[in-house]
Amino acid sequence: MSAADIALEVVILAAGQGTRMQSNLPKVLHKLAGKPLVEHVINAAQNLNAQQIHLVVGHKGEQVQQELSAFKIQFVEQKEQLGTGHAVAQTLPNLQPNTKVLILYGDVPLTKTSSLEELLACAGTESIGLLTVNLPNPTGYGRIVRNAQGQVTAIVEQKDANSEQLAIQEINTGILAVTSQQLAKWLPQLSNTNAQGEYYLTDIIAMAYQEGLAIHTVQPVNSYEVEGVNNRQQLAELERFYQHEQAMKLMEVGVTLADPKRLDVRGELQAAQDVFIDVGCIFEGKVEIASGAEIGPYCVIKDSYLGPNVKLAAFTHLDQAHLEADNQVGPFARLRPGAELAKAARVGNFVEVKQAQVGAGAKINHLSYIGDASIGAEANIGAGTITCNYDGANKHRTNIGAKAFIGSNSCLVAPVNIGAQATVGAGSTITKDIEDQTLAVTRAKQLHKSNWPQPTKS
Ligand code: UD1
Ligand code: CA
Repeated sequence: MSAADIALEVVILAAGQGTRMQSNLPKVLHKLAGKPLVEHVINAAQNLNAQQIHLVVGHKGEQVQQELSAFKIQFVEQKEQLGTGHAVAQTLPNLQPNTKVLILYGDVPLTKTSSLEELLACAGTESIGLLTVNLPNPTGYGRIVRNAQGQVTAIVEQKDANSEQLAIQEINTGILAVTSQQLAKWLPQLSNTNAQGEYYLTDIIAMAYQEGLAIHTVQPVNSYEVEGVNNRQQLAELERFYQHEQAMKLMEVGVTLADPKRLDVRGELQAAQDVFIDVGCIFEGKVEIASGAEIGPYCVIKDSYLGPNVKLAAFTHLDQAHLEADNQVGPFARLRPGAELAKAARVGNFVEVKQAQVGAGAKINHLSYIGDASIGAEANIGAGTITCNYDGANKHRTNIGAKAFIGSNSCLVAPVNIGAQATVGAGSTITKDIEDQTLAVTRAKQLHKSNWPQPTKS
């Protein structure tokens, strides 16, 4: 928490339509790094330990509320979008009498907690904190007007500015910190006699100056922190800024990236020293990768753990998988929820594993489906082996003992138990349990007929 001595409330404006997105989906629900834009902003508010988060919704507000129902948020409807000042005014009945209020925007997703903390430290009963930035091309933004002493005296919107003011390069990001008492006093005084006929939140700055309050400005380290999303191009740009930052953080802790530009982290990726990640990989949810692991190109990894020295070959998909250590998986392998590989177990190409514990050193190297199964240490599962786990209504388990050898193209019809060091002949369909160290073969005996006449064309 910042050095704030009074509680913090955050107001997030998200009532605008977002016409330029050309979308049926409300703008703030468009995703950046796999998460709705507005959720990034809510997370920022949570990081600041806001006591209450107020979200002003309007256009398709019900859909926004539904999507965010898991969050502890006070939704406020702004029925008509009459301006940013009008939007904040809708929250006045819900604001507590003695709090700091931080105004954020649902379509500005990448503001850093540290920048906001700095801003909050400026706001108090005698002062306001304003987040500004200097732009070589300030067109479209509200300009920060200062007097001869350098004090901020007002914000003038582009459409209301004179030529002298239009030359100002310091612009209003829209993000500001005030107290709830100040808002309660100033917002009802706003008028809409301006070029756009809107109630401008920015007009409170001139009121504050006139009352002798100090207006402190804070600038973010990177300008993308205050950039908003108005169209798909800007969304794509911010996504790349975000991903660039993720890549930098990974390299800082000792991860080698074949190309930092070709990495997508849509969740939390925690990777240790000397992890190598090839191009085109996507990480979703919570993924942890231990030291020495190597991820081949174009892998998609979601909510999984990869232990030390695990090697994933190209095009491997993991979802809720746990790979203990020294495993080799892929190329083209698919580990689904509940796939657990013990140390040095191997899964090869075109193998699907689901809800299965694969013992240490066991191998499933080619073209198999292993589901609802346990496989003993050092068992060898031949190419094309299928656990027939589903009878059309229920799922059943297959248990395979240590060092068992399952011949190629076998069907193991669950529920079934195969003992330790048992052997299944290739091409068998196993429906009964097999004892330890026992051979089972179910295929027909091979028949030989000599001098067999091959058919001729009629
Ligand atoms: C606003 C600022 C401008 C600043 C710019 C930064 C005002 C008057 N101007 O201008 O100084 O440089 O942002 O991007 O504040 N919204 C509502 N209800 C409304 C109007 C807007 O919820 O009635 C929301 C929008 O959804 C949007 C945000 O407020 O997320 C900003 O609104 P927008 O109309 O884009 O403001 P600008 O004119 O760009
Ligand atoms: Ca805007």
